Amino acid sequence: MKALVLAGGLGSRLRPFSHSMPKQLMPIANKPVLAHVMEDLRDLGVRDVGVVVGDRGQEIARALGDGSSLGVRLTYVHQDLPRGLAHCIAISRDFLGDDDFVMYLGDNLLTEGVKDIADEFRALRPAAQVVVHPVPDPRAFGVAEVGDDGRVLRLVEKPRTPRSDLAVIGVYFFTPAIHEAVAAIGPSARGELEVTDAIQWLVARGDDVRASTYHGFWKDTGKVEDVLHCNRELLDGLKPAVAGDVDGTSELVGAVVVEEGARIVRSRITGPVIVGAGSVVEDSHIGPYTAIGRDCVLAAAGMEDSIMLDGARIHSVGGVHGSVIGRDATVSSQARTNRSRIVVGDHSSVVVAA
Ligand code: TTP
Repeated sequence: MKALVLAGGLGSRLRPFSHSMPKQLMPIANKPVLAHVMEDLRDLGVRDVGVVVGDRGQEIARALGDGSSLGVRLTYVHQDLPRGLAHCIAISRDFLGDDDFVMYLGDNLLTEGVKDIADEFRALRPAAQVVVHPVPDPRAFGVAEVGDDGRVLRLVEKPRTPRSDLAVIGVYFFTPAIHEAVAAIGPSARGELEVTDAIQWLVARGDDVRASTYHGFWKDTGKVEDVLHCNRELLDGLKPAVAGDVDGTSELVGAVVVEEGARIVRSRITGPVIVGAGSVVEDSHIGPYTAIGRDCVLAAAGMEDSIMLDGARIHSVGGVHGSVIGRDATVSSQARTNRSRIVVGDHSSVVVAA
Protein backbone atom coordinates (compact mmCIF):
# COMPACT_ATOMS: atom_id res chain seq x y z
CA MET A 1 0.00 0.00 0.00
CA LYS A 2 1.18 3.52 -0.86
CA ALA A 3 0.22 6.77 0.85
CA LEU A 4 -0.83 10.17 -0.42
CA VAL A 5 -0.39 13.04 2.03
CA LEU A 6 -2.11 16.32 1.19
CA ALA A 7 0.02 19.30 2.16
CA GLY A 8 -1.14 22.03 -0.24
CA GLY A 9 -4.16 24.22 0.46
CA LEU A 10 -4.36 27.83 1.59
CA GLY A 11 -4.37 27.46 5.37
CA SER A 12 -6.33 30.70 5.63
CA ARG A 13 -7.73 29.74 9.04
CA LEU A 14 -4.22 29.54 10.46
CA ARG A 15 -3.19 33.09 9.67
CA PRO A 16 -0.91 34.82 10.44
CA PHE A 17 1.35 31.73 10.62
CA SER A 18 0.26 30.47 7.20
CA HIS A 19 1.44 33.77 5.67
CA SER A 20 5.00 32.68 6.19
CA MET A 21 4.91 28.90 6.53
CA PRO A 22 2.82 26.00 5.26
CA LYS A 23 0.36 25.10 8.02
CA GLN A 24 1.45 21.47 7.86
CA LEU A 25 4.85 22.50 9.30
CA MET A 26 3.29 24.05 12.38
CA PRO A 27 5.09 22.47 15.36
CA ILE A 28 3.01 20.40 17.76
CA ALA A 29 5.08 19.43 20.82
CA ASN A 30 8.07 20.77 18.83
CA LYS A 31 7.57 18.55 15.77
CA PRO A 32 5.79 19.55 12.54
CA VAL A 33 2.32 18.08 12.06
CA LEU A 34 3.65 16.42 8.88
CA ALA A 35 6.33 14.57 10.84
CA HIS A 36 3.61 13.13 13.10
CA VAL A 37 1.70 12.08 9.96
CA MET A 38 4.77 10.35 8.48
CA GLU A 39 5.38 8.45 11.73
CA ASP A 40 1.80 7.24 11.65
CA LEU A 41 2.21 6.04 8.06
CA ARG A 42 5.47 4.29 8.85
CA ASP A 43 3.66 2.46 11.67
CA LEU A 44 1.18 1.17 9.06
CA GLY A 45 4.12 -0.35 7.18
CA VAL A 46 3.81 2.17 4.33
CA ARG A 47 7.09 3.24 2.73
CA ASP A 48 6.17 5.03 -0.53
CA VAL A 49 4.52 8.34 0.22
CA GLY A 50 3.41 10.97 -2.30
CA VAL A 51 3.15 14.47 -0.86
CA VAL A 52 0.87 16.93 -2.67
CA VAL A 53 2.23 20.45 -2.19
CA GLY A 54 1.24 23.88 -3.42
CA ASP A 55 3.25 27.10 -3.60
CA ARG A 56 5.04 26.32 -0.35
CA GLY A 57 6.34 23.00 -1.57
CA GLN A 58 9.98 24.03 -1.34
CA GLU A 59 9.73 24.75 2.37
CA ILE A 60 8.08 21.37 2.93
CA ALA A 61 10.76 19.64 0.86
CA ARG A 62 13.46 21.42 2.91
CA ALA A 63 11.90 20.17 6.14
CA LEU A 64 11.22 16.56 5.10
CA GLY A 65 13.83 15.96 2.38
CA ASP A 66 13.56 12.55 0.73
CA GLY A 67 11.89 11.17 3.88
CA SER A 68 14.80 8.89 4.84
CA SER A 69 15.12 10.47 8.30
CA LEU A 70 11.44 9.61 8.88
CA GLY A 71 11.70 6.07 7.52
CA VAL A 72 9.72 6.70 4.31
CA ARG A 73 10.44 7.48 0.62
CA LEU A 74 8.83 10.74 -0.48
CA THR A 75 7.70 11.77 -3.96
CA TYR A 76 6.47 15.36 -4.28
CA VAL A 77 3.50 16.18 -6.51
CA HIS A 78 2.86 19.85 -7.30
CA GLN A 79 -0.70 21.20 -7.29
CA ASP A 80 -1.05 24.55 -9.08
CA LEU A 81 -4.03 25.70 -6.98
CA PRO A 82 -6.11 24.11 -4.19
CA ARG A 83 -8.66 22.51 -6.49
CA GLY A 84 -9.97 19.97 -3.97
CA LEU A 85 -9.03 16.69 -2.33
CA ALA A 86 -10.17 14.58 -5.29
CA HIS A 87 -8.06 16.78 -7.60
CA CYS A 88 -5.04 15.78 -5.48
CA ILE A 89 -5.79 12.12 -6.31
CA ALA A 90 -6.15 12.92 -10.03
CA ILE A 91 -2.79 14.69 -10.29
CA SER A 92 -1.03 11.90 -8.36
CA ARG A 93 -2.12 9.16 -10.75
CA ASP A 94 1.40 8.45 -12.06
CA PHE A 95 2.75 8.07 -8.55
CA LEU A 96 -0.19 5.94 -7.34
CA GLY A 97 -0.33 3.63 -10.39
CA ASP A 98 -2.73 0.77 -9.72
CA ASP A 99 -1.80 0.37 -6.06
CA ASP A 100 -4.10 0.59 -3.06
CA PHE A 101 -3.35 3.70 -1.03
CA VAL A 102 -4.13 5.56 2.17
CA MET A 103 -4.85 9.26 1.77
CA TYR A 104 -3.96 11.35 4.80
CA LEU A 105 -4.69 15.07 5.20
CA GLY A 106 -1.39 16.67 6.18
CA ASP A 107 -2.94 18.88 8.86
CA ASN A 108 -4.68 16.07 10.76
CA LEU A 109 -3.45 14.62 14.01
CA LEU A 110 -4.64 11.19 15.23
CA THR A 111 -2.74 10.31 18.36
CA GLU A 112 -3.80 6.65 18.46
CA GLY A 113 -2.94 5.91 14.83
CA VAL A 114 -5.10 3.83 12.46
CA LYS A 115 -3.25 0.51 12.38
CA ASP A 116 -6.36 -1.60 13.15
CA ILE A 117 -8.35 0.16 10.43
CA ALA A 118 -5.54 -0.34 7.90
CA ASP A 119 -5.43 -4.05 8.77
CA GLU A 120 -9.19 -4.27 8.25
CA PHE A 121 -8.86 -2.57 4.84
CA ARG A 122 -6.03 -4.88 3.79
CA ALA A 123 -8.08 -7.95 4.79
CA LEU A 124 -11.41 -6.97 3.19
CA ARG A 125 -10.28 -4.65 0.37
CA PRO A 126 -13.54 -2.71 -0.08
CA ALA A 127 -13.44 -0.17 -2.94
CA ALA A 128 -13.02 2.54 -0.30
CA GLN A 129 -12.89 2.72 3.46
CA VAL A 130 -13.46 5.97 5.32
CA VAL A 131 -12.54 6.68 8.92
CA VAL A 132 -15.29 8.22 11.02
CA HIS A 133 -15.39 9.77 14.47
CA PRO A 134 -18.52 10.67 16.47
CA VAL A 135 -18.77 14.44 16.99
CA PRO A 136 -21.38 16.49 18.85
CA ASP A 137 -22.12 18.76 15.87
CA PRO A 138 -21.33 17.09 12.54
CA ARG A 139 -22.68 19.91 10.34
CA ALA A 140 -19.20 21.21 9.50
CA PHE A 141 -18.00 17.81 8.22
CA GLY A 142 -18.63 15.16 5.62
CA VAL A 143 -21.15 12.91 7.36
CA ALA A 144 -21.52 9.14 6.83
CA GLU A 145 -24.69 7.13 7.18
CA VAL A 146 -23.51 3.66 8.05
CA GLY A 147 -25.44 0.36 8.09
CA ASP A 148 -25.15 -2.22 10.88
CA ASP A 149 -22.68 -4.20 8.76
CA GLY A 150 -20.29 -1.22 8.49
CA ARG A 151 -21.25 -0.41 4.89
CA VAL A 152 -21.64 3.25 4.00
CA LEU A 153 -25.18 3.94 2.79
CA ARG A 154 -24.63 7.63 2.01
CA LEU A 155 -22.06 10.37 2.39
CA VAL A 156 -23.11 14.01 2.54
CA GLU A 157 -20.78 17.02 2.75
CA LYS A 158 -21.72 19.53 5.50
CA PRO A 159 -25.41 18.54 5.77
CA ARG A 160 -27.84 20.99 7.36
CA THR A 161 -29.65 18.15 9.09
CA PRO A 162 -27.14 15.35 9.61
CA ARG A 163 -28.54 11.80 9.60
CA SER A 164 -25.75 10.54 11.90
CA ASP A 165 -23.07 11.97 14.21
CA LEU A 166 -20.26 10.28 12.28
CA ALA A 167 -17.86 12.83 10.81
CA VAL A 168 -15.53 11.61 8.06
CA ILE A 169 -12.03 12.45 9.27
CA GLY A 170 -8.82 13.02 7.33
CA VAL A 171 -7.71 9.46 6.61
CA TYR A 172 -9.13 7.40 3.72
CA PHE A 173 -8.23 4.01 2.26
CA PHE A 174 -8.73 3.42 -1.47
CA THR A 175 -8.36 0.74 -4.10
CA PRO A 176 -7.76 1.95 -7.69
CA ALA A 177 -11.59 2.06 -8.14
CA ILE A 178 -11.38 5.63 -6.78
CA HIS A 179 -9.69 6.81 -10.02
CA GLU A 180 -12.83 6.02 -12.05
CA ALA A 181 -14.91 7.96 -9.53
CA VAL A 182 -12.57 10.96 -9.57
CA ALA A 183 -12.70 11.02 -13.38
CA ALA A 184 -16.52 10.85 -13.33
CA ILE A 185 -17.34 13.72 -10.94
CA GLY A 186 -17.42 17.45 -11.64
CA PRO A 187 -16.57 20.41 -9.41
CA SER A 188 -18.85 21.21 -6.47
CA ALA A 189 -20.65 24.50 -5.85
CA ARG A 190 -17.44 25.87 -4.28
CA GLY A 191 -15.54 24.90 -7.42
CA GLU A 192 -13.54 22.00 -5.95
CA LEU A 193 -13.33 18.33 -6.85
CA GLU A 194 -14.64 16.87 -3.61
CA VAL A 195 -13.45 13.50 -2.36
CA THR A 196 -16.86 13.08 -0.67
CA ASP A 197 -18.50 13.25 -4.12
CA ALA A 198 -16.06 10.68 -5.50
CA ILE A 199 -16.75 8.26 -2.63
CA GLN A 200 -20.50 8.86 -2.88
CA TRP A 201 -20.18 8.03 -6.63
CA LEU A 202 -18.78 4.62 -5.64
CA VAL A 203 -21.61 4.12 -3.12
CA ALA A 204 -24.21 5.01 -5.77
CA ARG A 205 -22.63 2.54 -8.21
CA GLY A 206 -23.11 -0.20 -5.60
CA ASP A 207 -19.41 -0.64 -4.75
CA ASP A 208 -18.46 -1.83 -1.28
CA VAL A 209 -17.62 1.31 0.70
CA ARG A 210 -17.00 0.85 4.41
CA ALA A 211 -16.60 3.03 7.47
CA SER A 212 -14.53 2.29 10.55
CA THR A 213 -14.78 4.27 13.74
CA TYR A 214 -11.65 5.82 15.22
CA HIS A 215 -12.04 6.35 18.96
CA GLY A 216 -8.82 8.13 19.91
CA PHE A 217 -7.92 11.82 19.93
CA TRP A 218 -8.34 13.47 16.52
CA LYS A 219 -8.11 17.06 15.42
CA ASP A 220 -7.48 18.99 12.27
CA THR A 221 -4.90 21.61 13.14
CA GLY A 222 -6.57 24.23 10.94
CA LYS A 223 -6.93 26.95 13.59
CA VAL A 224 -4.73 28.32 16.39
CA GLU A 225 -7.04 26.94 19.11
CA ASP A 226 -6.79 23.48 17.53
CA VAL A 227 -2.99 23.70 17.38
CA LEU A 228 -2.89 24.53 21.10
CA HIS A 229 -5.32 21.71 21.88
CA CYS A 230 -3.15 19.21 19.96
CA ASN A 231 -0.06 20.55 21.72
CA ARG A 232 -1.64 19.87 25.13
CA GLU A 233 -2.71 16.41 24.05
CA LEU A 234 0.76 15.39 22.82
CA LEU A 235 2.59 16.99 25.75
CA ASP A 236 0.47 14.89 28.10
CA GLY A 237 2.50 11.87 27.01
CA LEU A 238 5.89 13.62 27.41
CA LYS A 239 8.76 11.67 28.97
CA PRO A 240 11.17 13.84 30.98
CA ALA A 241 14.72 14.15 29.65
CA VAL A 242 17.36 16.72 30.43
CA ALA A 243 20.26 17.10 27.99
CA GLY A 244 20.84 20.83 28.48
CA ASP A 245 22.02 22.79 31.53
CA VAL A 246 19.83 23.44 34.55
CA ASP A 247 21.46 25.62 37.23
CA GLY A 248 21.23 24.84 40.94
CA THR A 249 18.64 27.53 41.65
CA SER A 250 16.18 26.29 39.04
CA GLU A 251 13.46 23.75 39.68
CA LEU A 252 11.93 21.31 37.21
CA VAL A 253 8.62 19.76 38.26
CA GLY A 254 6.87 16.94 36.37
CA ALA A 255 7.67 15.98 32.75
CA VAL A 256 10.18 18.49 31.45
CA VAL A 257 12.42 18.05 28.41
CA VAL A 258 15.45 20.31 28.17
CA GLU A 259 17.11 19.69 24.84
CA GLU A 260 20.80 19.87 24.08
CA GLY A 261 22.39 23.28 24.42
CA ALA A 262 19.34 24.74 26.21
CA ARG A 263 19.96 26.58 29.50
CA ILE A 264 17.63 27.03 32.46
CA VAL A 265 18.73 29.73 34.88
CA ARG A 266 16.99 30.82 38.14
CA SER A 267 13.66 29.53 36.81
CA ARG A 268 10.83 27.20 37.73
CA ILE A 269 9.42 24.93 35.04
CA THR A 270 6.29 22.90 35.65
CA GLY A 271 5.78 20.15 33.08
CA PRO A 272 4.74 19.05 30.68
CA VAL A 273 7.12 21.46 28.97
CA ILE A 274 9.74 21.13 26.22
CA VAL A 275 12.57 23.62 25.99
CA GLY A 276 14.08 23.29 22.51
CA ALA A 277 17.76 23.05 21.67
CA GLY A 278 19.76 26.22 22.22
CA SER A 279 16.98 28.09 24.03
CA VAL A 280 17.58 30.10 27.20
CA VAL A 281 15.09 30.47 30.06
CA GLU A 282 16.12 32.95 32.76
CA ASP A 283 14.27 34.25 35.84
CA SER A 284 11.05 32.82 34.45
CA HIS A 285 8.11 30.66 35.43
CA ILE A 286 7.13 28.34 32.62
CA GLY A 287 4.55 25.79 32.86
CA PRO A 288 2.29 23.37 32.10
CA TYR A 289 1.62 22.61 28.43
CA THR A 290 4.26 24.79 26.85
CA ALA A 291 6.47 23.92 23.88
CA ILE A 292 9.43 26.20 23.27
CA GLY A 293 11.22 25.82 19.93
CA ARG A 294 14.93 26.12 19.15
CA ASP A 295 17.02 29.17 20.00
CA CYS A 296 14.29 31.04 21.89
CA VAL A 297 14.95 33.42 24.77
CA LEU A 298 12.62 33.80 27.76
CA ALA A 299 13.78 36.32 30.33
CA ALA A 300 11.67 37.34 33.35
CA ALA A 301 8.73 35.67 31.61
CA GLY A 302 5.65 33.84 32.83
CA MET A 303 4.04 31.50 30.34
CA GLU A 304 1.74 28.48 30.21
CA ASP A 305 -0.34 26.57 27.64
CA SER A 306 1.58 28.16 24.78
CA ILE A 307 3.87 27.54 21.83
CA MET A 308 6.97 29.52 20.91
CA LEU A 309 8.35 28.93 17.44
CA ASP A 310 12.07 28.92 16.72
CA GLY A 311 13.96 32.09 17.55
CA ALA A 312 11.09 33.79 19.39
CA ARG A 313 11.90 36.00 22.40
CA ILE A 314 9.91 37.14 25.39
CA HIS A 315 11.21 39.59 27.93
CA SER A 316 9.64 40.89 31.16
CA VAL A 317 6.13 39.76 30.35
CA GLY A 318 4.20 37.50 32.70
CA GLY A 319 0.81 35.84 32.61
CA VAL A 320 1.10 34.71 28.99
CA HIS A 321 -1.24 31.79 28.26
CA GLY A 322 -3.04 30.25 25.27
CA SER A 323 -0.53 32.01 23.03
CA VAL A 324 1.45 31.17 19.93
CA ILE A 325 4.49 33.33 19.21
CA GLY A 326 5.85 33.11 15.67
CA ARG A 327 9.38 32.57 14.41
CA ASP A 328 11.84 35.27 15.52
CA ALA A 329 8.98 37.35 16.96
CA THR A 330 9.61 39.44 20.10
CA VAL A 331 7.26 40.24 22.98
CA SER A 332 8.53 42.54 25.72
CA SER A 333 7.49 45.12 28.27
CA GLN A 334 9.16 48.30 29.27
CA ALA A 335 9.41 49.75 32.76
CA ARG A 336 8.60 53.41 33.52
CA THR A 337 6.12 53.91 30.71
CA ASN A 338 2.39 53.48 30.40
CA ARG A 339 2.50 53.43 26.63
CA SER A 340 2.53 50.28 24.49
CA ARG A 341 4.16 49.84 21.12
CA ILE A 342 2.71 47.12 18.93
CA VAL A 343 4.08 45.95 15.60
CA VAL A 344 2.03 42.91 14.53
CA GLY A 345 1.78 41.32 11.12
CA ASP A 346 -1.34 40.89 8.99
CA HIS A 347 -4.20 38.83 10.42
CA SER A 348 -2.55 38.66 13.87
CA SER A 349 -4.45 38.98 17.10
CA VAL A 350 -3.21 40.39 20.42
CA VAL A 351 -5.18 40.42 23.67
CA VAL A 352 -3.52 42.32 26.52
CA ALA A 353 -4.47 42.20 30.17
CA ALA A 354 -6.70 45.15 31.09
P1 TTP B 1 -8.36 22.21 4.18
O1 TTP B 1 -7.99 22.46 5.60
O2 TTP B 1 -9.74 21.80 3.91
O3 TTP B 1 -8.04 23.45 3.26
P2 TTP B 1 -7.05 24.68 3.42
O4 TTP B 1 -5.64 24.27 3.68
O5 TTP B 1 -7.19 25.46 2.16
O6 TTP B 1 -7.50 25.44 4.75
P3 TTP B 1 -8.30 26.81 5.00
O7 TTP B 1 -9.74 26.43 5.00
O8 TTP B 1 -7.83 27.25 6.38
O9 TTP B 1 -7.90 27.81 3.95
O10 TTP B 1 -7.41 21.07 3.59
C1 TTP B 1 -7.14 19.85 4.25
C2 TTP B 1 -5.74 19.39 3.89
O11 TTP B 1 -5.64 19.10 2.49
C3 TTP B 1 -4.67 20.42 4.17
O12 TTP B 1 -3.49 19.75 4.59
C4 TTP B 1 -4.46 21.09 2.84
C5 TTP B 1 -4.70 19.95 1.84
N1 TTP B 1 -5.26 20.35 0.55
C6 TTP B 1 -4.51 20.17 -0.61
O13 TTP B 1 -3.37 19.69 -0.55
N2 TTP B 1 -5.07 20.52 -1.81
C7 TTP B 1 -6.33 21.03 -1.93
O14 TTP B 1 -6.78 21.31 -3.05
C8 TTP B 1 -7.09 21.23 -0.71
C9 TTP B 1 -8.48 21.80 -0.77
C10 TTP B 1 -6.52 20.88 0.49
